[in-house]
Amino acid sequence: MVRNMRVLGIESSCDETGVAIYDDKEGLIAHALHTQIAMHAEYGGVVPELASRDHIKRVVPLVHQVIDEASMQLEDLDAIAYTAGPGLIGALLVGAMEARALAYALKIPAVPVHHMEGHLLAPMLEENPPTFPFVALLVSGGHTMLIRVDKPGVYELLGQSVDDAAGEAFDKSAKLLGLPYPGGPALEKLAQNGDSSAYHFPRPMADRANCDFSFAGLKTAVLNAVKASLDLEHDKANIARCFTDAVADTLCIKCKRALKITGLNTLVVAGGVSANSTIRSSLSEMMQKRHGKAFFARPQFCTDNGAMIALAGMLRFKAGQVKDLGVEVFPRWPLSELKAM
Ligand code: KG4
Ligand code: ZN
Repeated sequence: MVRNMRVLGIESSCDETGVAIYDDKEGLIAHALHTQIAMHAEYGGVVPELASRDHIKRVVPLVHQVIDEASMQLEDLDAIAYTAGPGLIGALLVGAMEARALAYALKIPAVPVHHMEGHLLAPMLEENPPTFPFVALLVSGGHTMLIRVDKPGVYELLGQSVDDAAGEAFDKSAKLLGLPYPGGPALEKLAQNGDSSAYHFPRPMADRANCDFSFAGLKTAVLNAVKASLDLEHDKANIARCFTDAVADTLCIKCKRALKITGLNTLVVAGGVSANSTIRSSLSEMMQKRHGKAFFARPQFCTDNGAMIALAGMLRFKAGQVKDLGVEVFPRWPLSELKAM
């Protein structure tokens, strides 16, 4: 009988330390996360040096926690995957060093993983995973991209943001509304009590016949609404609601275009912004109308986590794409540079 393979995944690219174990037959068998949100909130955003130091404190206990949760020993692991980029260099180095050291001690391979590939594959952790090929919409704090995915590792960029990423627009707009960091989840909560007809914000670049995005103008529209408001306490839920509607609509318009260009009818949506319930339902509805389907990860796996790194690491490990002992991280790393698996 062929024995199960198990990969430990470590994510430390920004402000979350995530560790998980993926089993090639049983799927995800353990995961743990420490979020630094409370620590950075005081500063209104991520402080890179504090992030690195906190990853150092958290990563080893989290590794032991998932090993215990899976009722196994470190020696039962077959490979250690880690986020090698893109991300904050100091934060990336912590996960990379831990992964390399563990792999060396256990005499098993270490597997560098692209953070955005992790996000892109996260919906495959769910019970009814999407099948290839599909169009992927990646909406995170640093990236907004539409990608044609033929199989794991084969990514064709169809379009991306020419300025702010969708998550960045959420964070900046949240700040303008006086909400705490991180803005996305706080803005989602505020928008629940808002009225969709109160404002009409632009759907940026909707009339351009491409798959690129631009969210900087939308943020300016929010700024103007805030400035013009005579009673911001009263208006801010409406602004949050109408901002979210504008982002959701824009994403729908661009996804439809990408589906038309590729002739595909399966959409995978991933990255922190895909945790937003309005965005999830708008995209799902849009796909239902086309008799296609939208796939998402559970909200917990939309934002940064170790599970997606363990899964992507398992696929790269099985494809034999492991690295020698050198520790290399890539703060900037285009997804298009990845090899097919
Ligand atoms: O994917 P992610 O966790 O980290 C990056 O790789 O960037 O994405 C973080 C981004 C942040 O901008 C955050 O505000 C946004 O995702 N976000 C949300 C929600 N949860 C996280 N945006 C809108 N609604 C949410 N519920
Ligand atoms: Zn991320």
